Amino acid sequence: MHEARGAAQAVSVHEPVLLRETIEALAPRSGGAYIDANLGGGGHAAAVLAASAPNGTLLGIDADATAIARSTARLSEYGARLKTFHGSSARIAEAAAAAGFHGVDGILFDLGLSSDQLVDRERGFGIRTGGPLDLRFNTGEGESAAALLAHLTVPELAALLREFGEEPQAGKIARAIVARRAATPVTTAEELAALVAEVATRPGKPSRIHPATRVFQALRIAVNDELGALATALDASIRLLAVGGRIVVLTYHSLEDRIVKRAFAAAAKGCICPPKVPLCGCGVKPSLRLITDKPLTASEEEVTKNPRSRSAKLRVAERIEVAA
Ligand SMILES: C[S@@+](CC[C@H](N)C(=O)[O-])C[C@H]1O[C@@H](n2cnc3c(N)ncnc32)[C@H](O)[C@@H]1O
Repeated sequence: MHEARGAAQAVSVHEPVLLRETIEALAPRSGGAYIDANLGGGGHAAAVLAASAPNGTLLGIDADATAIARSTARLSEYGARLKTFHGSSARIAEAAAAAGFHGVDGILFDLGLSSDQLVDRERGFGIRTGGPLDLRFNTGEGESAAALLAHLTVPELAALLREFGEEPQAGKIARAIVARRAATPVTTAEELAALVAEVATRPGKPSRIHPATRVFQALRIAVNDELGALATALDASIRLLAVGGRIVVLTYHSLEDRIVKRAFAAAAKGCICPPKVPLCGCGVKPSLRLITDKPLTASEEEVTKNPRSRSAKLRVAERIEVAA
């Protein structure tokens, strides 16, 4: 089975989600400076660079070195208009400073994993694709999912599956994993998927969703510190935007969307005084204006063409002048 593995495919197979809506929200213009905090296959980035011709610039960030290399090749026609940064989006302020970006006109987040990662048999992202159970975007940093599964206690693992996977059978699955690893370590996506399918009973109609989907999501979120990185990156992004600059975020599950919704609402409100305080004493002023009250979602037509877009939610906010 190892012959099927090899270098990741050279050309991206990822289909950008809500592309038209994203570009309408960012409204790229010539001379503008944009950051794509999740460069991935470069689909959204290509559209931003095309729409900001002839001299808009884009800084593409990705924790996955393969995604950076693939997108750099794909976007080579844009020459020095494209800059890249390999690392977590939590380091967006450092990445922007290194690229000479101050007062950015638009920042895009398109969270989670790409189809390129899903089909990569070296990474273990695809439950049905299989491969070593790594699940890190940046394979040079932190602990793989297999390493994590080798040492977490049952309560720690159950808490992780509950918190990051909203997995109703977290305890049962955690106990089964810990019992199994006493005999054989769980090191591949296939082994984990089969083990979860064995122990997790799903009442009701058979589902198209694999029973291990929530478990894989939870482990991926944990090994990449996805929620922590998102909160840090959003906060830094609001400060990086020029007045009138837009922040556009595409999320794929409720844990991510909640963080974005709350970060936008907090920045749009400003004041952080407790509700009972009659007069504001904190002096925190609003820094964002919400453009989308309710998130935009994909049309039926897009969902049919690109099923990945089914769970997507797009939120947009605009940087405003902070009152003195
Ligand atoms: C959904 S894909 C982006 C697809 C891209 N918009 C396109 O059109 O091809 C998400 C990408 O974000 C990267 N990523 C996820 N979390 C990250 C983080 N905290 N920091 C940097 N990159 C991250 C993943 O490696 C993946 O390549």
